[in-house]
Amino acid sequence: MIQTKFRVFFSTFAALAVAFGTLALADEHGPLHEMMESVNKANNAINKAVRTPVNYKKDAKTVTEKSKELVKLAKDTVAAVGESKKIKGVKGDPEAQWKTLAADFLKSSEELAKVAGKEDHAATKNAHQAVKKSCSGCHEVFRVEDEK
Ligand code: HEC
Repeated sequence: MIQTKFRVFFSTFAALAVAFGTLALADEHGPLHEMMESVNKANNAINKAVRTPVNYKKDAKTVTEKSKELVKLAKDTVAAVGESKKIKGVKGDPEAQWKTLAADFLKSSEELAKVAGKEDHAATKNAHQAVKKSCSGCHEVFRVEDEK
């Protein structure tokens, strides 16, 4: 009897701990996190499609679509300048740096979207490299671990 009570007590406690843990995590993940998840998905799809000429031949349309998506997300990134102040451990003025770095991201994605329309593998891959440089450029300043 006593044992059963304990078991109920502990399993309730465990369930609550899981629930609170999840809440704490959800809280930590702000609008930037959501946005970056989408950015990362689009970028990974492009990575895969431009890897080799054979991949590209099959998947050129993916690059055209996903690069347009990146342009939209880059515009959201530009607009999210206010979030930059909340990021800890940044040297210098976060907003001024965000403006430059997000503008690089937007410019390189627009260039990629333009080049991708021509369906030239080498040129598209090059344009995508420039986009990826803009990702790491920003992550360096805002101290985000780059996976790549
Ligand atoms: C203008 C700055 C900026 C640019 C450009 C940028 N990122 Fe980010 N990225 C961030 C910040 C800030 C975070 C941390 C967000 C957070 O988790 O709160 C982040 C986080 C991430 C994460 C980790 C997921 C997360 O949110 O914890 C991935 C993956 C990522 N970015 C991918 C990319 C890729 C791919 C590109 C380029 C195509 C890119 N980012 C461009 C600022 C940027």
